[in-house]
Amino acid sequence: MSNDLHSSPRFQPPPERRDFLGLAAIWSAVVGLGVAALGAVRLPMPSVFPESNSRVKLGPVSRFKEVETTPVPEHRLWVYASDEGLYAISAVCTHLGCIVSKEEGKGFFCPCHGSRFDIDGKVVAGPAPKPLLHLLLSVSPDGQLVVDKQKEVGGDVRLQV
Ligand code: FES
Repeated sequence: MSNDLHSSPRFQPPPERRDFLGLAAIWSAVVGLGVAALGAVRLPMPSVFPESNSRVKLGPVSRFKEVETTPVPEHRLWVYASDEGLYAISAVCTHLGCIVSKEEGKGFFCPCHGSRFDIDGKVVAGPAPKPLLHLLLSVSPDGQLVVDKQKEVGGDVRLQV
């Protein structure tokens, strides 16, 4: 009876262990390549996405006038006070959106891919394609410093206060 079954044209022998391992290796490679392709597609997208309300109050203007550099980490920026007025520099790297750190007296450094910016936010070393953004500052009617995190201004723009 068993010989009849084996001689049937529709009989297929059960897969061997070697075939199973070969299929498992192929499927592992396919899944690995799929995950790698998703990562490659995701890579050029910034890690930081724009927020809906871009204008935020930072606090009383007087607080920022008294100090040369005020970090505002919750909004990822620094506020500077100069003789000409106040200005704000974004801490978001223009390469892929990592947060840069300030190097005292030197400028800014991005830990993700090594971009460097001078103290005005201009690119000193890539891969960042553009300077750090200078953001629009204004004063609210109640005397608070307001930054618009989506409005870029020129690097020489100062808020006279
Ligand atoms: S995200 Fe800053 S250098 Fe790449």
